[in-house]
Amino acid sequence: METLPGDISDFTPLGARTVRRFYANAIARGAATVCVTSAADGSLLGFVMITPDIAALFPRSLLAGPGDIARFVFGANPFGLARALVAKLTSGTATVAAVPELVYLGVSVKARGQGVGAALMDAAHAEFRRQGIPRYELNVHEGNLSAVKLYFAKGLSVARRYEKGGHTMYNMTKELESAPPA
Ligand SMILES: CC(C)(COP(=O)(O)OP(=O)(O)OC[C@H]1O[C@@H](n2cnc3c(N)ncnc32)[C@H](O)[C@@H]1OP(=O)(O)O)[C@@H](O)C(=O)NCCC(=O)NCCS
Repeated sequence: METLPGDISDFTPLGARTVRRFYANAIARGAATVCVTSAADGSLLGFVMITPDIAALFPRSLLAGPGDIARFVFGANPFGLARALVAKLTSGTATVAAVPELVYLGVSVKARGQGVGAALMDAAHAEFRRQGIPRYELNVHEGNLSAVKLYFAKGLSVARRYEKGGHTMYNMTKELESAPPA
């Protein structure tokens, strides 16, 4: 959670428990891949999560069966759930295209500004290529300057600007060059 930007309730209105379950289920069910960077003592410095299909990620991770649905409805912060629903429905992103997406990149506060984020972006690109995926998207707050600058530096471009939950967002895309011959 330390890797999240700013106010956690703003970023994860569903609550920390639901977010943890989302990540754990996404990995366990093969709906997403995570690359991590660790320090010499084994502590986590940062991670990046990618998925081949963003439209399937949320349903597969949190709503795959009655047990999941019950845990989601009763486990999520009710005010956060309402906020997230309103933000989703008013942003024009209620339906999500089935596209590959970089879901989240986060670096521990103490490790920022040392190239960890850049290395994780390289790892994400290598993993997309390994999975045969030629193009991916991500969504980021326009005001998240460190992230936006890193994404531009890694060759992403802004496909679309939109409003969500009171924030201006960028939808960014990246075409991955084909892997060099082995
Ligand atoms: C965005 C984030 C992942 C960057 O990770 P990082 O490890 O600090 O980034 P790096 O050290 O690899 O920096 C790579 C490049 O990013 C940009 N950058 C990183 N931090 C920056 C900052 N504070 N201000 C401006 N640019 C910055 C620069 O272009 C930098 O290149 P440089 O070597 O020329 O300075 C990190 O700040 C973070 O975890 N933020 C909170 C989580 C978040 O917002 N994630 C994005 C959600 S979509």
